[in-house]
Amino acid sequence: MKSNLNPTLAARQVAKLSKLRPVLGIVLGSGFQEAIARMEVDTEIGYQKLAGFPPVGVTGHAGKLVLGHLGNTPALILSGRAHYYEGHSMEQVTFATRVLAEFGIQDLLLTNAAGGLNRSFRPGDFMVLTDHINFMGANPLRGPASPRYPRFVDMTRTYDPGLGNLLRRAARSSGLRVKSGVYLAVSGPSYETPAEIRAFARLGADAVGMSTVPEAIVARQCGLKVAAMSCITNLAAGRGGAALSHAEVLETAEKVKNLAAQLLYNFAKVYGERAE
Ligand code: HPA
Repeated sequence: MKSNLNPTLAARQVAKLSKLRPVLGIVLGSGFQEAIARMEVDTEIGYQKLAGFPPVGVTGHAGKLVLGHLGNTPALILSGRAHYYEGHSMEQVTFATRVLAEFGIQDLLLTNAAGGLNRSFRPGDFMVLTDHINFMGANPLRGPASPRYPRFVDMTRTYDPGLGNLLRRAARSSGLRVKSGVYLAVSGPSYETPAEIRAFARLGADAVGMSTVPEAIVARQCGLKVAAMSCITNLAAGRGGAALSHAEVLETAEKVKNLAAQLLYNFAKVYGERAE
């Protein structure tokens, strides 16, 4: 399939709008949107103005790219992402990741909301991803081979341990409960059945969600270092008594939004201090 999505074009558009050239990129998922409020903003661009960016359909996701400083560190923040369950192709879902790579981002932090499978997890906990299981039934690298990037991408160390340690440090200094674990991605948008959750737990998953994995795969293909963090917004299906709802996800996200913003602020700060 020939595509007319052009990450180079969109990256040039972004570069024209600001003199800032951050190497740190952060994608804000549900629960993490408040980090924008902590930013010293240089430039803000709505996704609709960027050629190729899919519109954002999830409540609470702004759909804008922001360049500025977070914790005194230059950073590019994507507030909102396109999800596979919205009907976008994998190419569309990962387009922004390719734009960031073209722009010159070297380290990418992906954040999301997830359901907790691990019995020690509670809603409101945060989890640093140590690895993932791709159960989306699709891979963003499927299709014509890229002339610039490897066809068969190594995934043995998808999540950078150094960045993971920085995240843990930042989380502890923000006073929140931070765990580590394996994120399993499903396509959604239905939540899982209790039988699926029992199966996923046996496969080694600690949390389940509907994003992040396609972006992590493409980021690794482009040679970016990746870190990722989940906000555990609910116990996975069958783990608690109650039925799952998006309202519950949003409610937990709302409760922890200031902690999550502080966490990202501290992460950007220690990241900047380390790079100096
Ligand atoms: N399952 C899948 N995705 C999610 C969940 C869940 O329980 N919570 C937040 N995103």
